[in-house]
Amino acid sequence: MTTQFTWLGHGSWAIETAGHKLLLDPFLDDSPTAPVKAADVEADFILLSHGHGDHVGDTVAIAKRTGATVIGVYELCEWLARQGVEHTLGMNLGGAVTQPFGKLKLTLAHHSSTLPDGSPGGNPAGFLLNLEGANVYFACDTALFLDMQLIGAAGLDLAVLPIGDLFTMGPADSIQAIQLLKPKRVAPAHYNTWPPIAQDANAWANQVRQETSAEPIVLEPGESFTL
Ligand code: NI
Ligand code: MN
Repeated sequence: MTTQFTWLGHGSWAIETAGHKLLLDPFLDDSPTAPVKAADVEADFILLSHGHGDHVGDTVAIAKRTGATVIGVYELCEWLARQGVEHTLGMNLGGAVTQPFGKLKLTLAHHSSTLPDGSPGGNPAGFLLNLEGANVYFACDTALFLDMQLIGAAGLDLAVLPIGDLFTMGPADSIQAIQLLKPKRVAPAHYNTWPPIAQDANAWANQVRQETSAEPIVLEPGESFTL
């Protein structure tokens, strides 16, 4: 069985695994690079990393239309429930759950998490997933941190890292992150959405090949790969 990952631009991903459709941080209608609109996507589960508008995005509308369960930190889920989202699974950092699509653990992220209306969103998070037997780490919005070594100890088939700089780690720190995580494959995200986070992904990929043992996977928004 394989898992398909489709980059929807910025930090947004669609994942199809074990007969389930997942969205991660679905920021679509207001994203200049998203290849689809919120009205056109399906989801059984939505994984939400933190409260910033470029991640919460269209989560409320998609969850209400599809009935998807939103998984994220407790404070984020409480806020979503107040917006009328019916199904949420509130967790906190370090916690893991088994769901119909696989296993999920909330990991540390060094960032912030204020919601669009100014409400506190709790701590920001990343996701360590086990999908069809493959370990997949979405760092989401974060700085480089040394504890990535612990996340990598799981043995990662794939890591997805931000490379945009300014709001998250940039390309140089992502190389160090890859050296700590030691994933088999690595995909970049959270770049080229707007000019302040423009990056040369092909130059990044060359550096990944030269300085790490990971295979870089560079996508255009709307493109997919399978694991
Ligand atoms: Ni953010
Ligand atoms: Mn962001």
